[in-house]
Amino acid sequence: MASVAFSELLDALAWQIELGADEAIGDVPIDRLTVADVPKPAPKPAAKQVMAPISVLDSPATAVDDAGAAALAAHAQTLGALKAAIEGFEGCELKKGARHTVFSDGNPAANVMIIGEAPGRDEDREGRPFVGRSGQLLDRMLTAIDMSRSAEDPSKAVYITNVLPWRPPQNRDPSTDEAVMMKAFLLRHIALAAPGVIVTMGNAATKTLLDTATGITRLRGTWASHGDIPVLPMLHPAALLRNPLQKREAWADLLALKARLRTL
Ligand code: URA
Repeated sequence: MASVAFSELLDALAWQIELGADEAIGDVPIDRLTVADVPKPAPKPAAKQVMAPISVLDSPATAVDDAGAAALAAHAQTLGALKAAIEGFEGCELKKGARHTVFSDGNPAANVMIIGEAPGRDEDREGRPFVGRSGQLLDRMLTAIDMSRSAEDPSKAVYITNVLPWRPPQNRDPSTDEAVMMKAFLLRHIALAAPGVIVTMGNAATKTLLDTATGITRLRGTWASHGDIPVLPMLHPAALLRNPLQKREAWADLLALKARLRTL
């Protein structure tokens, strides 16, 4: 076998981890170039598509069987009870593949509640939302308007959660079914935290909370509402990392947020 540079092997490993293969499931490595051909399984009958990512749907989420989640959520009278209810909820398959239930971070008394999409690899490891690269960018964005998740003063603090508390495999977008199933928990979370303003980060959070099919690039920067709570849809920090030119729009949205907070 031709020799491969150590750095190339490391790059290949990093790529596999990026794709979600972050655990070894066998003790002995398998050389797949030499193992005999394994017979192919018989083709399965065409399955109906139930896991379309939110980003490719053109209609808002509609009802699925979320009765279990709704009852559990309604029963929770405190944030701690809600966290326990989500941790005990077995209706979502994502839980089986996750290391942690990622509930929230920041100051629950904050004026601003930020809603993201779902934990990624770093969040799943740490059990806290937005701790990876997009989380670090989010922290820098907040610092720029003199706010942070660690501030004690509610007027300078943020409270952070996600639509989904469990990491989707390979960091794929949440499916509509998953978002609809977990929405009752999200709504209860908002009711218990009672923020003055909500910021939805990216498509999944915006579409789920506002029940809209319109994409984030059109909605960002335009104030909407959830009951009597103003909602500001913003571009997701991950999108800003991919497309730094959009940071200009994000800055305008941060200034709009700051201005709105002065009126509370
Ligand atoms: N992206 C999100 O939407 N939420 C996280 O917690 C991390 C990355």
